Amino acid sequence: MEIIRVKDANEGGKKAFEIIANGMQNGAKVLGLATGSTPVPMYKEMTDSDLDFSNMTSVNLDEYVGLGGDDAQSYRFFMNDHLFNHKPFKETFVPNGKASDLAAECKRYDQVIADHPIDIQILGIGRNGHIGFNEPGTSFTSSTHLVQLTQSTINANKIYFDKVEDVPTQALSMGIGSIMKSKKIILMAFGDAKADAIKGMIDGKVSEDLPASVLQNHADVTVIIDDAAGSKL
Ligand code: GLP
Repeated sequence: MEIIRVKDANEGGKKAFEIIANGMQNGAKVLGLATGSTPVPMYKEMTDSDLDFSNMTSVNLDEYVGLGGDDAQSYRFFMNDHLFNHKPFKETFVPNGKASDLAAECKRYDQVIADHPIDIQILGIGRNGHIGFNEPGTSFTSSTHLVQLTQSTINANKIYFDKVEDVPTQALSMGIGSIMKSKKIILMAFGDAKADAIKGMIDGKVSEDLPASVLQNHADVTVIIDDAAGSKL
């Protein structure tokens, strides 16, 4: 893993953007994208840039079950709001959290990923080391699946909702096996709430107890962190 230390999330967003821009110059066509507060500065760099994304495809990591694109807390809404409404892509994929048959939706999404191999995957990290919504214990060979969110994740994500009861308890997530097939991975983490997860991911043993530790087995991972997130290394 290559570790890049930055001053703050804004500088981290610039670095990640530079890697994406460089990747696009070298032929990258499919971006794996993430939600959460962590990649917001990177999306700002993208929307402020004069880069053209109209030949690019995006495949997002996850979506809450029960929320549609019109729900302001859905990840589809987040992506439209932060990126796609400003920079049109050729095609954008996010799992459909309102699908009536969730198992069929997982299969459909696996086909989307198979048809659009990810050149550069952007990741944040949960406090418990989750990537996408792959909570501790998820198989390293998993494909898209239905997830029961842990209380830790629900508590961390409740700031985006009026009350904790409004946070969905389930999500659809790209699997760890699929994430690992991405050619290049950029993981960003800022702030001390991520310090334990970053320590475990980089220095801990590779274990399904800390999903992000699987990245030690990937050949091309860049980790962008600030001093707070890197304080336990
Ligand atoms: C959610 C998302 C993850 C994200 C994590 C951290 O659980 N499913 O993809 O990495 O939150 O969010 P934040 O960047 O807001 O700390």
